[in-house]
Order: sequence, then structure tokens, then C-alpha cells
Amino acid sequence: MKKSLSRAPGRPYNAPAMSFQAARATPRNRPVITLDGPAGAGKTTVAKRLAQALGFRFLDTGSMYRACTWKALEEGVDVRDPAALVDMIRRSRLELDGDRIRIDGRDITEAVRSERITRAAAFLADPPEVRTELVRRQRDFGQAGGLVTEGRDQGSVVFPDAEHKFYLDASIDVRARRRHRELTERGERVDYEEVRRGIAERDEKDRTRSVGALRKPADAVVIDTSSLSIDEVVSNLLARLGTGRAGSNA
Ligand code: C5P
Repeated sequence: MKKSLSRAPGRPYNAPAMSFQAARATPRNRPVITLDGPAGAGKTTVAKRLAQALGFRFLDTGSMYRACTWKALEEGVDVRDPAALVDMIRRSRLELDGDRIRIDGRDITEAVRSERITRAAAFLADPPEVRTELVRRQRDFGQAGGLVTEGRDQGSVVFPDAEHKFYLDASIDVRARRRHRELTERGERVDYEEVRRGIAERDEKDRTRSVGALRKPADAVVIDTSSLSIDEVVSNLLARLGTGRAGSNA
């Protein structure tokens, strides 16, 4: 039975209020909360908002794969050559600071969201050797706890002992519409059908990769976000975490 994240209303979550750490083999002062799910399920926005509400750090692991893809394309490294990618990643300085991401000191937060990077990142994220490099950095980031992390394999592979696991899902049409709107708002001219096809292809890659494939951890709470607003999803998660805020039914 999971313990709730009790905290004083309106105040960021803080360590002394925690009561379940004694049960952990490796004590963490504050919990790790994982959010996994397919592209476009709303994970990034929700995870960011949840982290803010709890006073936790936030980790967008997709942005790590994206940042490495950006650098590979810049340097002409083949995104299908695992050895070259591992070599490149080992000599890269990856910094995550809230929702900003820098590689070798350069802020590429906006640049990594392009459709070109999105497509290439799906290949870079495949080789187990590449994942090992990035998973190690993700675990380092989460070691101290107090983290909301989102991706595909956070609850299943990276933090199997996370105190709270969620899996956000949505229909492919809803996810394609969200992605299309995001790209249009960024000024990228893309055809809706093409975006939908891209999402279907990424779903297939995400679900079939040999290591780190997208799957629902058995102990995760599944939330379908298709007909929910971001606010509704965040309230729902906060309610399930026992922070005493009302949630809607998902
Ligand atoms: O979530 P986002 O679309 O930003 O992810 C970018 C790419 O990184 C996707 O192709 C996704 O499959 C991959 N990824 C991954 N494991 C994660 C997070 C993202 O393989 N934990």
C-alpha cells in the first residue's frame, strides 16, 4: 500500500513530513514519481506542473535523447551507429535545469522540439548501449529523490523502485492533434496526416525496441488523458498522491 505525500496545504512538499522512507532498502529522503506513456499523452506539461506543485525537481528524459540527437546531427554522427553515438555522448556535457536543456553549454531547449529532431531521436533511442549511457545519468539525477521524471521506461527500467508510478495514455487522434497544434504554434508548417503517421511510427518503435520499450509498469496507475485538460490531469494526480486536492475522474 502506497503512502500519501502528505504536506501542509499550499506549501511545497518537504522531507520531514515523509514517513515511508524507513521501508526502503536505499533510503531516499523524498520520493521519485514516474510518468510514462506514448508521445503526445501530455507527460511533459503534466510532469512539469506536478513537480512545481510538489516543490520537486523535474526530468524530461525525452529531451536527453533529443539533445544527443541534435548534437549528432550537428556533428554529422550517424544516429544509427551505436559506437559513434556512445563516444559522442561520453564527451558531451548534458545539463538539465528545470525545463531547460543545454549541451556543452549551449541552450537547445527550443531547437530540440523540431520535427526533424523528433524523427531522428526515435532511432538514436534504440541501441541498448546508448540507453545505458543516458539511463545512468537519469539515475544519478534521481538518486536524492524529490523528482518527477517522465519518459517511456522510467517506472519499468530506470526507477523500478519509484514510490509512485503513473502511465498517461490518450487516443492516437488526440495525440496527433496536440502535436500538430504544438508544431503549428511553433511556426512549423506540417500536414496533420503526416504528423499522425509520424506518431503511429514512433508508437511502433517505442513499443518494440529491445531495451527500454514503452510498457505500462504493473504497479502504475493508468490515466487516459484524451478528454481531460492539463489542469484536470494534474489535479487528478495530486489527489491520487494524497496531497488533499480534489481530482476529476479519469
Ligand atoms: O518524449 P519525447 O518525444 O520527447 O522523446 C523523444 C524520443 O526519445 C522518442 O523517440 C522516445 O521514444 C525516446 N525516449 C526514450 N526513452 C525515454 C524518453 C524518450 O526512448 N525515457
